[in-house]
Amino acid sequence: MRMRRKKNLEARLEACGDYILYLDRDEKNFQDKSNKQLIDFEKIFGNSNPLVLEIGCGKGQFAREIAKRNPDKNFLAVEKSSNVIVDAAQMAIDEGIPNLRFARGEAEYLDCFIPEKSVECIYLNFSCPYPKNTYARHRLTYRAFLEIYRRILVDKGEIYQKTDNMHFFEFSLEEFSAANYGLKNISLDLHNSGFEGNIVTEYEKKFSDMGMPIYRLEAFVK
Ligand SMILES: C[S@@+](CC[C@H](N)C(=O)[O-])C[C@H]1O[C@@H](n2cnc3c(N)ncnc32)[C@H](O)[C@@H]1O
Repeated sequence: MRMRRKKNLEARLEACGDYILYLDRDEKNFQDKSNKQLIDFEKIFGNSNPLVLEIGCGKGQFAREIAKRNPDKNFLAVEKSSNVIVDAAQMAIDEGIPNLRFARGEAEYLDCFIPEKSVECIYLNFSCPYPKNTYARHRLTYRAFLEIYRRILVDKGEIYQKTDNMHFFEFSLEEFSAANYGLKNISLDLHNSGFEGNIVTEYEKKFSDMGMPIYRLEAFVK
């Protein structure tokens, strides 16, 4: 089901100014990466601190919290829905978080905008599981995405995934292995694992309040 566009959406996006970057592409074929428009992160953040991505940030609760906890890193939270990113950016502006920006765009095109080997790590929090097998290639851990991430991650760069969906988690483990990523610190019940410093996302709260275990993995570029 499509979400209705929020009232005054365009005006609200405009009011967020350069807190939201727009990763817009004309092409519909994400294999064609000939046209690059690389972002100058040093110019945006005014420093060369390490860059961290969250992909599919929703309303940005996680991104805001992790950016506040890590002022010595720069954060880019990517989200394809204007409806939700506008709320996320507005809250970050209200809280005055200097090391966080949002990007409205699709993960499919990240390597057209983000320089090679420039990202320290990527967070995939409760990405849409797309349960039907015919939609597997839309899952953010499908192998074509893992190749995009590999291009923008630094050597030994890491990906952290959390999900409530066991089948999606199994799929992700298989895809990371097939794409020759290393895997470590796999948890089948994060909240009872002794893991410290977890930042609970909007979806994570919803699912754990329903009594569902949270799965987590760390993958790294070999
Ligand atoms: C289930 S929500 C999770 C939101 C948040 N990360 C959380 O844990 O509460 C997944 C989000 O990913 C976004 N998304 C899905 N596919 C995407 C893609 N290919 N590129 C960018 N964002 C995507 C959706 O629009 C949605 O907001």
